[in-house]
Amino acid sequence: MLKDKVAVITGASRGIGRATALAFARAGAKVVLASRTQSDLETVANLIRVDGGEALVVPTDVTQADAVKILVDRTLETYGQIDVLVNNAGTGAFETVADSDPEVWTQVIASNLKSTYLCSKYVLPPMLARQSGQIINVLSIAAKVTFKASSAYCAAKAGALAFTKVLAEEVRSDNIRVTAVSPGSVDTPFWANIEGHPDLNLMLKPEHVADTILFVVAQPTGMVTDEIVVTPPLGIL
Ligand SMILES: NC(=O)c1ccc[n+]([C@@H]2O[C@H](COP(=O)([O-])OP(=O)(O)OC[C@H]3O[C@@H](n4cnc5c(N)ncnc54)[C@H](OP(=O)(O)O)[C@@H]3O)[C@@H](O)[C@H]2O)c1
Repeated sequence: MLKDKVAVITGASRGIGRATALAFARAGAKVVLASRTQSDLETVANLIRVDGGEALVVPTDVTQADAVKILVDRTLETYGQIDVLVNNAGTGAFETVADSDPEVWTQVIASNLKSTYLCSKYVLPPMLARQSGQIINVLSIAAKVTFKASSAYCAAKAGALAFTKVLAEEVRSDNIRVTAVSPGSVDTPFWANIEGHPDLNLMLKPEHVADTILFVVAQPTGMVTDEIVVTPPLGIL
């Protein structure tokens, strides 16, 4: 289905990004794996290669413009084009405003919102040149619903939803399709250090979100999916 397509996936080392990379590779895409931890990315790349797929590892801190430029340049040098960007990297921190650490708060905004801006900005020139491309931003129901002790995360995701809508309008006439995918709780390492999190057994699996992203990418030209919300069977946990 994605033969000859090149997909850059951020946060590809774990959780939703890892599942998405594996699903895209199984569908025939050449996948570019970006996150900060090279060893974890190599593990995912090896799984893809053992299965006959193609993967490029580019360790990247997606909050840093220079690193994102290198990610885009290395992808173009290796594969010559970028068909799909999945802006998936992100971190959470769950503290009240009064108890929050300004550095942690800022990092949550950067890893979720600034990263989405930077990666989108730097993949746009090659997409605009080809008048073709898809950008999928992995947001959260926290983009639409607020939770106590989640000010940075909710602000980052709501900001990223607004960003997604602005970008979609800016590039619509250039045949670049931009989609927000907003999941409810997903059973990933995201929750590992968070006290009192919902029951992991009740959450979506990362493969559910990966399949949703694949579904968006598989839609024929001639239509745009602006936004998809997916939740566990019990809804917001
Ligand atoms: N799990 C949930 O319940 C849930 C629900 C809705 C939405 N989401 C969203 O889904 C996305 C993926 O979450 P997940 O659950 O799969 O989390 P996860 O298992 O913790 O994975 C997060 C990924 O992001 C990468 N990452 C974090 N900061 C980065 C940075 N500055 N630069 C590059 N990569 C970075 C991590 O790799 P490194 O640490 O190696 O950099 C890792 O690959 C996030 O945007 C999250 O907000 C999650």
